[in-house]
Amino acid sequence: MSNLPLFDKQKDFASYFDPTADIILYNGDTNELIDNIPDNYVKLIITSPPYNLGKAYENQVSIEKYLETQAQTISKLYRILRSDGSICWQVGNFVQDGEVFPLDIYYYRIFKELGLFLRNRIIWHFGHGLHTSKRFSGRYETILWFTKSNEYTFNLDSVRIPSKYPGKRHYKGPNKGKPSGNPKGKNPSDVWDILAKEWEECFWEIPNVKSNHPEKTNHPCQFPVELVERCVLALTNENDWVFDPYAGVGSSTIAAIKHNRRAIGSEQETEYVKITHERLNSFFNGTLKLRPLGKPVHKPTGKEKVAQLPPEWKEATQQRLLEKKENYE
Ligand SMILES: C[S@@+](CC[C@H](N)C(=O)[O-])C[C@H]1O[C@@H](n2cnc3c(N)ncnc32)[C@H](O)[C@@H]1O
Repeated sequence: MSNLPLFDKQKDFASYFDPTADIILYNGDTNELIDNIPDNYVKLIITSPPYNLGKAYENQVSIEKYLETQAQTISKLYRILRSDGSICWQVGNFVQDGEVFPLDIYYYRIFKELGLFLRNRIIWHFGHGLHTSKRFSGRYETILWFTKSNEYTFNLDSVRIPSKYPGKRHYKGPNKGKPSGNPKGKNPSDVWDILAKEWEECFWEIPNVKSNHPEKTNHPCQFPVELVERCVLALTNENDWVFDPYAGVGSSTIAAIKHNRRAIGSEQETEYVKITHERLNSFFNGTLKLRPLGKPVHKPTGKEKVAQLPPEWKEATQQRLLEKKENYE
């Protein structure tokens, strides 16, 4: 086992599979690491796999070839998943010549053929992004949450969010007059709108937008830690193993460690593994900036300059509104 200078005092670290470690970070092909992990071992596998978009870290291949390779890795992941465990697979679209291939639809079959059970298809919604001109602008990605069996961990109370109308009461029936909600908050639902504007912009890599999200690193598409935290809290218990096979800059590792889980990650790019080490060191010495779990998404008040109609558009806009009104009359 090799230790890192700052966090060796707090957690045991290994760069290969070691069952006595708290954090395992493998710099190499995920399949090599998976082959060393015992059967039924990991409670939660959570990842955002390469999307075959030709990013710096991937060679673009045909969609068929891409899915075939992914299916091989997923069947290995199935072997190491605990029978009460979950897989959360976060994907967007593969786009070729303007045609959209919804990756989660392709992935669904792969997981289903292994006998996994879909519990939620979570919509991760972005308020901002690139504007397309030949189709509607894409504003969400999905997380497929599968379990290996019908006996699985789901700690709803750990991830409840404040309800909008806590004062609502039953208006009929035996509980008439009593509060109808849950004092611990409401179920966060399967549409997650948990991101700040700055994050959305950096995720979509809008040119010339200098992202100021507190967690942004050099990685072109990292997870917000907050997104993983919700899955970690709901789907695992303390000391369970959380594994991100495509770990990037370690967002899942940080989310797991923050909540006293044990973390495994594999990442092929040495640069990203180094950033993970730096982020973990900052986390342990209390300097890592994280967007707090559950912080409300920024909503413009309408008074900001960017929320105002540009003066040169005013006349045309008023004209359009007038035309619309006439069409309805
Ligand atoms: C979409 S990114 C994941 C980012 C990650 N969620 C984060 O928050 O940083 C996918 C990552 O998978 C890595 N990767 C691709 N193929 C891999 C393989 N066969 N083994 C290990 N890592 C791989 C890429 O280098 C890339 O960093």
